[in-house]
Order: sequence, then structure tokens, then C-alpha cells
Amino acid sequence: MFVLGGSASNGLDIPISELLGATRAQLVTTSFPDGEIKVRVPEEVGGDIVVVQSTYQPQERHLFELLLISDHLRHRGYEVTAVVPYLGYARQDKSFIPGEAVSIHTVLNMMRCAGIKKLVTVNPHKEDSLRHFQGEVAIVNAVAALANKVKDMVRDPFVLAPDAGGLELARKAAELLGCEYANIDKKRDSEGKVSIVGTHGSGFGGKDVVIFDDIISTGGTIELAARFAYGMGARSVCAAGVHLVMAGGAKERLKNANITTLFGTNTVPCSDAQIVDISPEIAACLR
Ligand code: R5P
Repeated sequence: MFVLGGSASNGLDIPISELLGATRAQLVTTSFPDGEIKVRVPEEVGGDIVVVQSTYQPQERHLFELLLISDHLRHRGYEVTAVVPYLGYARQDKSFIPGEAVSIHTVLNMMRCAGIKKLVTVNPHKEDSLRHFQGEVAIVNAVAALANKVKDMVRDPFVLAPDAGGLELARKAAELLGCEYANIDKKRDSEGKVSIVGTHGSGFGGKDVVIFDDIISTGGTIELAARFAYGMGARSVCAAGVHLVMAGGAKERLKNANITTLFGTNTVPCSDAQIVDISPEIAACLR
């Protein structure tokens, strides 16, 4: 088996190849003067091939690099397994406003056309949206790895889901941490501003609240949940996100909201956070 890491593997190709006892081949990715990408896959690569490439920012560039590699290998007669730890463009999984393009469908179609026969990803925004992929899909759940890290560092946890969509993740995290959980109902307006419309569960006064979410992007959702938790008497509030996308201003927003610690995984590069390595779970899924 060969493991190839693209320029957005975030180093995950190294432990994954080691854990699988596979050969790691060196891809060469360069750019033309106008910015177009060029990739070169060593000639010896063949047989079972795993390409590791996350699709964090700049998403289009990282996605297109993955398509170039896969399509090139398809021409050489191989269909590949793509490990895409963070699957970008997954949040637009329907037309929220009539006429909006559903980006996750387009991404999945392009991947299949480029010869990706199996897609492995970590906590995609909505698992159900992956049924549009016309190949095999395997989903890695990072919640146990994240919860273990939280367990080591948080004294008296209470898990909070910042929206109804995050309830399953929070429920699982609370089970692993052996604590209680609650969720907030949020809504987002057409400009992306989030506000709280209701809550389910209570009793986190005096507790160390851990807000669990799949993605932390602008940090707006976490900020709102943190302010709410402090308002309800939480002793401290920290945040655990599987994918720390951290779009412009997110770090500042979390700091202003008094988030004591930020936990995440290495599906996306992020500094100033407690990062959990998710490669053992990915390797186990590939075995
Ligand atoms: C939304 O449904 C997701 O689960 C996250 O809550 C959301 O993507 C976070 O985005 P932001 O950090 O920009 O509020």
C-alpha cells in the first residue's frame, strides 16, 4: 500500500503510513507563475493507494490538488482511497434560499469523477449528505479522542451543545466524560449572525462548561454559547471543536468570550490549542 500526502495533509500522511506499515511516497506540488497547480506522483506508486488531503483554506486549491492527483492516478489505471480529514464545502448541504447551489453535492461528484472510489473523512458536518457520493464512504468519529483530552484537563465538566445539530456529539462526549449535558437552540440570519432562541437542559452553574461542536469557523457560535454559559453561572468555559477552521477573527472572539482552553484535532492546522492526533482512528478505519 502507498500513502501519499498532499500539501494539505497537515502531516497526517506520516503517522498513517507508519501505523499501516505502508510506503509513504513523496508528492511534488508546485505552482505555475500564474498560480495554477502542478502535481507529480512518483512512477513507482501503484496498487492500493491512499491519498491524504484535507480541504481547509484555501479550500478550492486543496480540493483541486486532490482531484489532480486522483484523476492522474485514474489515468494510470488506479482508483484511490481519499482521506479528507476536514471536508470543506460540507455546510452547504441544501439550498437554504431557493436557487443556492448545494456545494457538498458538487464536491462529491467531482471526487467520484476523478477516480476516488472510497472517501474517508472525520466528523463531516452532516453524515447524511455523504450518501450522495457514488462510492464507498467511511466516517471517523473524533469525539472519543477529544473527550479523553478534555478529561485530562477539565475538573468538573458539563457539556454544552451550541445548537440542536450538535446534540449527538455533545451527548456522546458527556457519556464519555461521565457528566451531564444540555443544548442551546440557535438561529443564524442571512448575514450569518447567530442568536439564541431557546435552551434544553440546565444545571451548569458552578461547573466547568465544555462547549462541543463539529466546526469552529468564525467562533460566533462558541462566543454566543460561552456568554450564555457564564451568564448562567458557569465557573469556567472551554471549547472543543473537531475542526478548528478558525476563520478571520475567531481567536480574538474566543478570547473576548473568556474561553479558557481550546481543544481540537489535527484535521486542520491550528496553533494555540490543545490538539489531539486523529491518525490512529483514521489508520484503524483504513485497516
Ligand atoms: C453549524 O451548524 C456548525 O455545527 C457550527 O456550529 C458552525 O459551523 C460554527 O460556525 P461559526 O464558528 O462561524 O459560528
